[in-house]
Amino acid sequence: MTAPVDATATSAWAELSSIRDSFSPDLRGWFAADPERAERWMLDLADLHVDLSKNLVTDEILAALVRLAEQTGVAERYAAMLAGEHINTTEDRAVLHTALRRPAGASPALVVDGQDIDADVHSVLDAMAAFADRVRSGEWTGVTGKKVTHIVNIGIGGSDLGPVMVSAALEPYATAGIEARFVSNIDPTDLAQKTKGLDPETTLFIVASKTFTTLETLTNARLARDWLWSGLAATGAIDGSDEKKTDAVAHHFVAVSTALDKVAAFGIDTDNAFGFWDWVGGRYSVDSAIGLSLMIELGPDVFRELLAGFHAVDEHVRTTPLERNVPVLMGLLNVWYSNFLGAQSHAVLPYAQQLSRFAAYLQQLTMESNGKSVRWDGSPVTTDTGEVFWGEPGTNGQHAFYQLIHQGTRLIPADFIAFANPAYPLADDGRDVHGLFLSNFLAQTKALAFGKTAEEVEAEGTTGALVAARTFAGNKPTTSIFAPALTPAVLGQLIALYEHITFTQGVVWGVNSFDQWGVELGKQLALQIAPALEGDEQALAAQDASTRALLAYYAAHRKS
Ligand code: F6P
Repeated sequence: MTAPVDATATSAWAELSSIRDSFSPDLRGWFAADPERAERWMLDLADLHVDLSKNLVTDEILAALVRLAEQTGVAERYAAMLAGEHINTTEDRAVLHTALRRPAGASPALVVDGQDIDADVHSVLDAMAAFADRVRSGEWTGVTGKKVTHIVNIGIGGSDLGPVMVSAALEPYATAGIEARFVSNIDPTDLAQKTKGLDPETTLFIVASKTFTTLETLTNARLARDWLWSGLAATGAIDGSDEKKTDAVAHHFVAVSTALDKVAAFGIDTDNAFGFWDWVGGRYSVDSAIGLSLMIELGPDVFRELLAGFHAVDEHVRTTPLERNVPVLMGLLNVWYSNFLGAQSHAVLPYAQQLSRFAAYLQQLTMESNGKSVRWDGSPVTTDTGEVFWGEPGTNGQHAFYQLIHQGTRLIPADFIAFANPAYPLADDGRDVHGLFLSNFLAQTKALAFGKTAEEVEAEGTTGALVAARTFAGNKPTTSIFAPALTPAVLGQLIALYEHITFTQGVVWGVNSFDQWGVELGKQLALQIAPALEGDEQALAAQDASTRALLAYYAAHRKS
């Protein structure tokens, strides 16, 4: 195992610390003094046009950040990941989500741990496409011979957030008359609401779970199976015999997992199961068989375009020098803000209603990856890690939390994402509404960067205490990401961009961005506490005083 470099012991870190000590950001002054600043920091990444110029950095800082990447071995670690080295040290696994989007016939072939990765990836993709085509055309039917009109993906975390986000983002491409719904929460309300109004005869469930052991997903899958059986029995579509029930499951349940033995144990025919591999992390799996719901809803061609978008960014990262490498630079900027300027959170603000779930998706990607206190060799981290990612689409956020970004006391770097062309071009009294929408995107980054001085406020006739209240300090950093339209390829590029930003930060911090031990304790304790909710005295007695008191409240208020 290559030991992580302690970033804080590098000369680049010392250089950045000393710059920070006398740092006084001045976006107004920097832009005035340097007419080429905007052009210099406007970079293209496949179809994404990325404006880094409104960040709180000078050329000197960016150069030092690039040296930090060099000294912590970002490029070497990326190469190790692509080559299939077991960089997921705590699970002793390769990390090969980039292989999921390598084009067929890529040369040289990727063989890792004796496995022909390209052949395996494409054989699953082809099987998914063939199955999706059968469902979309109506060749695949429910148990009573009817075409599928609704698919319900049952999964959680990485087996849910990616498909949910992409399904919303690419909704205009869903043209086959099949609607996808997503159930994740073990709160029974989720399944109850998502199956409301559905006809069991035309509903197909996809049980998506990498491990096929996740409590939420397996519980929901059993609830869905009961819903199916009772719905079909209620209309006389099946009788209650085991044979008919098995037949119903075969027609209405498919699975996606790395554990096909467990799929079979659940009663799903493994002929209708799509596999993937332990080298795909849950939060990096939307482009694996976990995307089956998308393949069905949007079609194989759209899915392949999405994959091509991912791959374009992988290639950019692989072939572009660090100083022009967009995901690397964005990752380094995040390090600058978190470790040198004290930022604790990072806003992602898409000006696209279709990206309403993008921030939620990024929360798992970034926070499950980099929310770590030990490095990949088990030693403690040497600086703060992780950032709290959050966000909502503009313009809604403008009327909610932007106040704090503009005039609050905390530094919140923000990524703004927008598209030149709308999915639905509508006009208001002859006026292009999308233009109005985009003017907000441009106005916000401008206001954040350049603010409004007291003199400017006074010049508008404001006096007294109101002047301070109406002044904007500016120097609030933003990155603008602009693309022609939210196409499948562009979406793939956006997701891959954030994967690689996350990776860059993880390497600088020395953490293993591919394990998630932090979710285990809560899972274990939930299993221990569950019997106490059902009245098990021993389980109750084993709890701490606070938990016992909450259980007592539950017992007193639960209607039997
Ligand atoms: O929350 C932990 C986690 O393991 C995630 O990393 C993962 O995406 C999710 O649970 C779901 O896991 P699975 O796909 O195995 O059901």
